[in-house]
Amino acid sequence: MEKRRILTADRPTGLLHLGHYVGSIHNRLQLQHDPNNECYFFIADLHMLTTKKEKADIIGSRQAIREMMVDYLSCGLDPQKITIYLQSAIEAIYELNLIFEMLVNVNRLQGLPSIKEMAKNARMDIETIPFGLLGYPVLMSADILLPRAHAVPVGKDNEAHIELARDVARRFNQLYGEFFPLPELIEAEVPTLIGTDGQGKMSKSAGNCIFLTDDAKTVEKKVRGAYTDPNRIRADIPGTVEGNPVFAYLDAFDKDTAAVAALKARYRQGTVSDVEVKERLISVLNAFLDPIRERRREFELEEGLVEEILYDGTLKMQEVGREVIKEVKSLMGLSGTWNKISRLARERKATLAKQPPLL
Ligand code: TRP
Repeated sequence: MEKRRILTADRPTGLLHLGHYVGSIHNRLQLQHDPNNECYFFIADLHMLTTKKEKADIIGSRQAIREMMVDYLSCGLDPQKITIYLQSAIEAIYELNLIFEMLVNVNRLQGLPSIKEMAKNARMDIETIPFGLLGYPVLMSADILLPRAHAVPVGKDNEAHIELARDVARRFNQLYGEFFPLPELIEAEVPTLIGTDGQGKMSKSAGNCIFLTDDAKTVEKKVRGAYTDPNRIRADIPGTVEGNPVFAYLDAFDKDTAAVAALKARYRQGTVSDVEVKERLISVLNAFLDPIRERRREFELEEGLVEEILYDGTLKMQEVGREVIKEVKSLMGLSGTWNKISRLARERKATLAKQPPLL
């Protein structure tokens, strides 16, 4: 039976935090363990080019790629189970991107709020954005459809892009014959995690993150400084659990749900101090991070190991890409033209070679 092909990617923006864990890593770990799934995961360094003008080797730097790889691998992403690769090294993605550009309407891209948002974040004028940024979701369609993925676990912010990929697949199939499955979005259970400042979601730019690389002392410091219910100036004042990052983290990482429920009840009654709740959180988070830290040390000590994993996965994906592109070109009649031209040219060369030299 055909496996369900699952594909997702991240732009190499560097170190990952607890929000990433809850929002995507956890989900990926579950997906990779299901033997019915065939998982593809890659580093989307080409997508970095859509909003940055720096040289590609600076923005998609080896350092950022390595950091992200080590984060994922130490969380348990297993290269034996899934194919991990580097987008910019897969020629077929560039090729499929061009083919798909013919199947997408410009108006449709211009109407996407995500493009406007990305332009704004990159401080670009929407009137003068590069063609490539407009084409961000087309490139994403090429990413997704190259291994003919059935499902894509991503955040809601990418929902419209998955829809576009589905339309591209549908259009291709109509024009050239059934080939691509229509990919579906898989939404994470807990899409976002609130930051330590309690003001918004955990994000690097807001500086409210607990990173997977933070050591025990740093975690302790960040938790002690974390926002809680501001009205609670004493432990005997009833507190609010909702929107309180300390409880959000306990909900996400404390396996003892009964203990968390009891702690919440005491918090609401005003019979537990913030200090006690934070103590529990510190030990829960450090217990969660300890095995990750352990594995991280192994990956960091063995020089070249991370690179070898990415290399092996990329070679494998290049092969998959070549096969798919061959079929795509054949369906489109693109290979027929070239085959005919090259046959005639080779025949002529062979005939000429048989003729004796003139002198
Ligand atoms: N757009 C994704 C992000 O927001 C990254 C990405 C690029 C992606 N290509 C993809 C995600 C294909 C899923 C599938 O970072």
